[in-house]
Amino acid sequence: MNSSTTEKIKIQKADKSRIDQVDFENLVFGNVFSDHMFECDYKDGSWQTPTIRPYGSITLSPAAKVFHYGQAVFEGMKAFKDEDGKVWLFRPDQNAKRINKSSVRLAIPEFPEEIFFEALTTLVKMDRDWVKSGEGNSLYIRPFVFATQAGVGASPSTEYKFMILMSPVRAYYAGDIQVEIAEHYSRSANGGVGAAKAAGNYAAQFFPTNLAREKGFQQIIWTDASNHEYLEEAGTMNVFFRVNDTLLTAPISDRILDGVTRKSVIALAKRDNIAVEERRVLVSEIVEASKNGSLKEIFGAGTAAVISPINAFSFQNTTHNLEKQDDSYAVKFKKELTDIQRNRCEDPFNWRFEV
Ligand code: COI
Repeated sequence: MNSSTTEKIKIQKADKSRIDQVDFENLVFGNVFSDHMFECDYKDGSWQTPTIRPYGSITLSPAAKVFHYGQAVFEGMKAFKDEDGKVWLFRPDQNAKRINKSSVRLAIPEFPEEIFFEALTTLVKMDRDWVKSGEGNSLYIRPFVFATQAGVGASPSTEYKFMILMSPVRAYYAGDIQVEIAEHYSRSANGGVGAAKAAGNYAAQFFPTNLAREKGFQQIIWTDASNHEYLEEAGTMNVFFRVNDTLLTAPISDRILDGVTRKSVIALAKRDNIAVEERRVLVSEIVEASKNGSLKEIFGAGTAAVISPINAFSFQNTTHNLEKQDDSYAVKFKKELTDIQRNRCEDPFNWRFEV
């Protein structure tokens, strides 16, 4: 291992890359990690020396508060390689801000944005061979922060670890997906943590999602916790409904994640003169639109999911199938978005960031 430093980051390089052991054609999402990772500890009221070192295990006390009270938040972002070998991040400023917003909600100290950027760019540069070019390939980047103080007193930790891992991935969902609309369980409630990318938000979805899976659905579209009347988001993505030629999506609130892909789709739609309504969407309205034929498409939007067409939804044990559209918005937005991400077109929004 040899050591060096950037302006702020201590670096220990892996002696040898593991990249030759990876079957890039048969990746399971998020199961393989690149050669290096970033870590930075918080103690005595401040963030300590930021470090990049070979990917590997960490040691924690079994009393670390993250295990007992779930004080943990994360982000999801991606790096892409274009056909000339240049590597690009997509709107990284949004993730830097959002992880701190999530942290504030979970009483975790914010992480300095300039160190986040230096860590991110240094790590991606070091492991740039892990970013594969070609449709569908990307390097999924997982920044996260969690409570490390040993102690089971139910109070915020005084110690934390901020880390970044990177994982070469292909599509999150293979093919179209079917969803169930939630009628019993809820993802988030007013005043809760739904808008934060809190680890526990995902854990809470596993059991109801397993029940839905047993019935053949890959995801649940969550509804408001009060009456299950309004459609909100699916656990791994925000959701859009196309009724005739208008796009509907739930507005950002303290129950809904302010998705980077969501806001990018809205910006693309506005640029393309497609009507977008960010408003509460009734389940009954979508069921009715499905019955009268005005519901043309449903699709999810997220970093991992990109744009994922939903070809059927179930509500009150009735399945509604959607026909493929020749002028699919999902197909159009996926192309427009990935063309920008992969440097295949102009970037009028300034979303691309070259590493
Ligand atoms: C992402 O899209 O980055 C997410 O956080 C979804 C994740 C649960 C795979």
